[in-house]
Amino acid sequence: MGRKQKKKMVYDVPVVDVADRGKSVAKDADGKVYFIDKAVPGDVVDILVLKKKKSFFQGIVKEYKKLSEDRVEARCEHFGVCGGCKWQHLDYKAQLGFKSNTVVNAMTRIGKLDASLIDPIKGADQIFNYRNKLEYSFSSKRWLTDAEVATDEKIEQSPALGFHAPGAFDKVVDVNKCHLQDDLSNEIRNFTRTYTKEHGMEYYDARAHTGLMRNMVVRNTSLGHWMIIMSFAKEDDRIMPFLEVLKDKFPQISSLHYVINKKLNDTILDQDIILYHGEPFIIEQLGDIKYKIGPKSFFQTNTAQANVLFETVVDFAELKGDENIYDLYTGLGSIALYVSKSASHVTGIEEVEAAIIDAKENARLNGIENTTFYAGDVKDILTDDFSTKHGHPDLVITDPPRVGMHKDVIETLLKLKAPKVLYVSCNPATQARDLELLSAKYETVRMQPVDMFPHTHHIENVALLVLK
Ligand SMILES: C[S@@+](CC[C@H](N)C(=O)[O-])C[C@H]1O[C@@H](n2cnc3c(N)ncnc32)[C@H](O)[C@@H]1O
Repeated sequence: MGRKQKKKMVYDVPVVDVADRGKSVAKDADGKVYFIDKAVPGDVVDILVLKKKKSFFQGIVKEYKKLSEDRVEARCEHFGVCGGCKWQHLDYKAQLGFKSNTVVNAMTRIGKLDASLIDPIKGADQIFNYRNKLEYSFSSKRWLTDAEVATDEKIEQSPALGFHAPGAFDKVVDVNKCHLQDDLSNEIRNFTRTYTKEHGMEYYDARAHTGLMRNMVVRNTSLGHWMIIMSFAKEDDRIMPFLEVLKDKFPQISSLHYVINKKLNDTILDQDIILYHGEPFIIEQLGDIKYKIGPKSFFQTNTAQANVLFETVVDFAELKGDENIYDLYTGLGSIALYVSKSASHVTGIEEVEAAIIDAKENARLNGIENTTFYAGDVKDILTDDFSTKHGHPDLVITDPPRVGMHKDVIETLLKLKAPKVLYVSCNPATQARDLELLSAKYETVRMQPVDMFPHTHHIENVALLVLK
């Protein structure tokens, strides 16, 4: 479709599936495929076609001719603008159905595995306020809604504190209420907005790299601990008075940190995180294990479902108590510590050094003496020498980030030939790719999808592999 060509309308197109990033798929009678926003399978829509790609079209919904039975009222006032909960207008049962399909599609198409190996998905009981961590951004530019852009009135381009609008690195949706974390998170964020605006603390401009206020991380635990990490772009006399007021206003904050991040990017993992008030960590409990969580450590973001996930690992592992286990991508040792009481020894590897310090501290905290932790890239640490030193593993648990495992790690696992591998993944596509590569020596015998993130397309999947 050339630039000068008139945009085309297509009418009465059924929406048949969901796609990545909250998009939906509509298919017309000729089999033409349209990727659209704000529709759910079961809707019938009129579409304004905006772009032609190689095998599909992109468009926007102009009219809903029929609404799907799976539609529900979205709870959030920011729904459709904020990129966070793209599926909030889809009934939770239907969400689970589409998540199951994602796993089935990845495993059958990429992994070349049989769908019968996949157990029914474990959904969440709590589908709101389930997160224990949210990361808010400050921006000098508020994201304007479609309605605001369309109006003739002049809209003030005010600063904003909330979440980045999808695809907009320099603009932020000004969040009033988010339903993903305990409501105290809203109170702390909204107070911060009011205070910083009243005191003229400029919000960051990600294009010009000017301004003071950059990011704000809010973490909490089921034991009632709260951690805040405030990120500023430079030193400023107003920082300490603000932190003091924040601490006094919210006595629930048990761990208050700040960072002066002068870099161009927002990552704070490589920065000095300074404790302003309270303990340097917060404490979470899963099963009978307590975890100290430092500001740089990854921890599963949905505590209730992390319990379900870890219990699935325990169930699949069928430990007898004498096993030697490797836990790759161990974070702060969450799974390693969780299974340690049912094993002879667990050795964890994780690249974030601060997380390994937490892992060792967590072992001490729980009186666990049969774990060893190493900081470094799994592909460099897991060598022949490593297995000579730590003994041949009876079980390897692996829980890599979304990109999956490095091909060298897969090669090492194929050489290592542990009798069992338990692969926990937050990305079924890369997991399926890795299972296919591992199929040279391993048979995947069972899989369990677990929903950690209601209202998003994300899905966690646990796979049990046994040596052929
Ligand atoms: C999905 S998290 C799993 C953490 C842990 N298993 C848990 O359940 O809390 C993945 C972890 O892998 C770590 N990581 C990412 N790439 C790595 C690499 N190449 N080598 C070692 N660790 C890595 C991340 O820092 C993160 O802690």
